[in-house]
Amino acid sequence: MKLVMVGSGYVGLVSGVCFADFGFDVTCVDVDESKIARLEAGELPIYEPGLDQLLAENVQAGRLRFSTDLATAAADADAVFIAVGTPSRRGDGEADLTYVFEAARQVARVAKPGTVVVIKSTVVVGTCRKVKEIIATERPGLDFSVASNPEFLREGSAIEDFMRPDRVVIGVHDKRGESALRRAYRPLYLRDSPMVVTTLENAELIKYASNAFLAMKVTFINEVADLCETVGGNVQEVAKAIGLDGRIGSKFLHAGPGFGGSCFPKDTRAFAATGQKHNTPLRLIETVISVNEDRKRRMAEKILEPLGSNPEGKKVAVLGIAFKPNTDDVREAPSLDIVPRLLEAGAIVAAHDPEAREQARPLLNEVTWADDAYDAVKDADVVAILTEWNEYRGLDLKRVAKLMRGNTLVDLRNIYKQEDLEETGLLYISVGRPRAGTPRLHAVSAKTA
Ligand code: UDX
Repeated sequence: MKLVMVGSGYVGLVSGVCFADFGFDVTCVDVDESKIARLEAGELPIYEPGLDQLLAENVQAGRLRFSTDLATAAADADAVFIAVGTPSRRGDGEADLTYVFEAARQVARVAKPGTVVVIKSTVVVGTCRKVKEIIATERPGLDFSVASNPEFLREGSAIEDFMRPDRVVIGVHDKRGESALRRAYRPLYLRDSPMVVTTLENAELIKYASNAFLAMKVTFINEVADLCETVGGNVQEVAKAIGLDGRIGSKFLHAGPGFGGSCFPKDTRAFAATGQKHNTPLRLIETVISVNEDRKRRMAEKILEPLGSNPEGKKVAVLGIAFKPNTDDVREAPSLDIVPRLLEAGAIVAAHDPEAREQARPLLNEVTWADDAYDAVKDADVVAILTEWNEYRGLDLKRVAKLMRGNTLVDLRNIYKQEDLEETGLLYISVGRPRAGTPRLHAVSAKTA
């Protein structure tokens, strides 16, 4: 089976590499010549654990190639996956489908009869039907099928998610689309991964409803964390116990600085916009969006609070810029909202991130970049952990305390426990958990250790 991925971004690339690993002949196409040149040289444009090796192995085996020439690649493909971006449209939050439609037109011009065009990009309900019309108009008489195959890959564990998915969703309007996708995912079928074969519309809705639900779950626990802080509860204990209820489940109940990334913010906005457009407002999701926006502002205040009434010239060390660990992706990361607020308040910010520095540097001009966490915390009045990278979990906290000028550790990911800070002299502020002692709000430059 010959497969083509149109769009070699996160989704197209991971899917292309994994399909090649299943044994199919795959061409990953992109309009960005420099990206394709890098990929041909075996260099990855993104950081994703394990992807470099899998890519190299499949190129070596002759199953995977890269190209900017969509026409040639798509001309003899059995299935063409469209995995281009669907960014939020400015103003209304609707997903911008320009790239999807343009890719469909280009494929239509060259596709061989019987081709299945699979929409992998996250698209609002009704898009696949529109793609079908676009292809039929562009190339009247062409015998083709359209299918929807949304992805559920998490950055940082995308290969595992592709190889061992909770489910594969396949939206189709005919048997040919169904059998092409069943063939493409046959190796997973042998591993007993559930396949949901449904209509085009349902598949489109499943993707948005899944992400919106997860974003809602995170937002729910974040609000419970706020209440815990006010009434003296501990959100980790609450989350653990409610998660034991099989109907609720323990995942996505970690309180933090708010969700970010390339999917949740964009997809919740697009889902809410779809509701508005069809006069069926999704009020829960609209609230999730605004609660999450507000949260980032309040997290900046939480970091600034120990600096007292005049943060001017005080130093904050920010550990973690990526929206989550194991990725260099900073798209809509809470840090991009929080750090500018710290700077606006007059604080000096030193930042560290194991992978995201290059991506974040142009977006955070006034920040000093540190080579490691200890370098960042030197002379800091406050240290704030924004991303739960493994390397921040085992910091030598006594060393951190010694290097700092102040004494406050603000842990927005709850990776430490109060006991871990004993005998360090650090004051610990986390999310949704009781604070030990009274915060010393105006004496940050005097060490207690
Ligand atoms: C998400 C979906 O999980 C995936 O199925 C989809 O197809 C793409 O979007 P991803 O964007 O990689 O994947 O990130 P994810 O791990 O889902 O986390 C999203 C955000 O929620 C992050 O900012 C993360 O820090 C936050 N989060 C997640 C929490 O704050 N608490 C949690 O318990 C879980």
